[in-house]
This record gives sequence, C-alpha cells and structure tokens, in this order.
Amino acid sequence: MIFGGFDTTRNQLGLAMQTFLSHPDQWRLLAQRPELGAKAVEEVMRVNPTTRWVTREVIEDFEYEGVLLKAGTTVHLYAESAGTDPRVFTPGFDITAERKPHFGFGGGVHYCLGHFVARADMSEALPLLARRMRNPHELPGATWLPDSGNTGPNTLPIGFTPGA
Ligand code: HEM
Repeated sequence: MIFGGFDTTRNQLGLAMQTFLSHPDQWRLLAQRPELGAKAVEEVMRVNPTTRWVTREVIEDFEYEGVLLKAGTTVHLYAESAGTDPRVFTPGFDITAERKPHFGFGGGVHYCLGHFVARADMSEALPLLARRMRNPHELPGATWLPDSGNTGPNTLPIGFTPGA
C-alpha cells in the first residue's frame, strides 16, 4: 500500500507538470477553471501515465487479432500506447475533452485499489499548482527514472511567476 500509493502519485504529478509545460494554454485554462482538475488528471494519465505497463501471465492459449498467445507467456500491456492509440483517441491534449477510459490505473480485478485517493489528491493539487505557478518553464537539471515500469522525474526544476 505504501509503495503502491506514494511513488505513483508523486511521479504522476511530476509527469503532469512535464505534460503541461508543453501545453501552456491548458495550464492557464486549469488555473481559470479549477473544476477541470479531475478531467486534467484523466487526460494526463491517458497520454503520460507513470505506470507505463502492467504485466500478466497467459493462463490458457488464445488468439487475439491474429496473434497466438500461449499459456505461460508473460504479457506487458502498455498503458501509454493504449491511451494514445489514434484509432480510439483523437490526437492532442485537451482537458475539456470527453474521452474513453485510460489504463493508467490498470484494468480488471487488479484495478488500482487506491485510485479514488490518487484521483482526489491530484485533482486538488493540479489546479492549485496552476493558480500558484504562472508561466511555468523548465529549467536545466531534470533527472528521470528509467522510462519503464513506473516512471517520472526525480527532479524537475521549473521557473515560474508566483500567482495568488
Ligand atoms: C497516480 C497514482 C497511482 C497510479 C498511477 C496507480 C497505478 C496502479 C496500477 C496500474 C495498478 C494495477 C497493477 C496491475 O494490474 O498489475 C495498481 C494497483 C494497486 N494500487 Fe495503485 N496507483 C496509484 C495510486 C495508488 C494509491 C494512492 C494506493 C493506495 C492508497 C494504491 C494502491 C494500489 C494497490 C493496493 C494495488 C493492487 C490492487 C490489486 O492487485 O488488486 N495505488 N495501481
């Protein structure tokens, strides 16, 4: 519970900052409309999930879209690729868009047990940061976890104009 719930939310907030740094118009919108916090969380997790994949083991042979998966095979399910599949999602980053669900919290019986906590924390944190950190821009010196398993920034220096 501690590891599952601590690093994930922290990393996901760092990835949210990374995403919004490339979308300043969306950051300004979030500052103006804090009620978009919950949707911002979903949109960030769709395009930039901290949990890049979840792993399963095939328990019986089956075929999926012409690919035979044999029992005993380890399968990595890529949340980022699923969330940005152009056959399902219109390209772009838009915190007002209505989207299908993403897989940033996994899926099925092992769906994240702490998702209500994580969603509540981040949907409060992001609008607050957007209001207080105006015109954010990345400064040199960011360090990153590997782009694998659970990822995110170890440090992400950001310059900004203080807001109210
Ligand atoms: C942004 C934050 C979070 C992300 C991205 C996240 C992501 C995930 C994912 C992808 C899974 C599914 C793993 C799998 O199917 O193999 C999972 C499971 C789990 N998460 Fe989270 N999580 C977050 C926050 C939390 C929090 C805050 C808690 C606890 C308070 C938590 C507790 C758990 C637990 C206990 C499981 C295992 C559920 C099971 O196996 O049935 N997570 N999480």
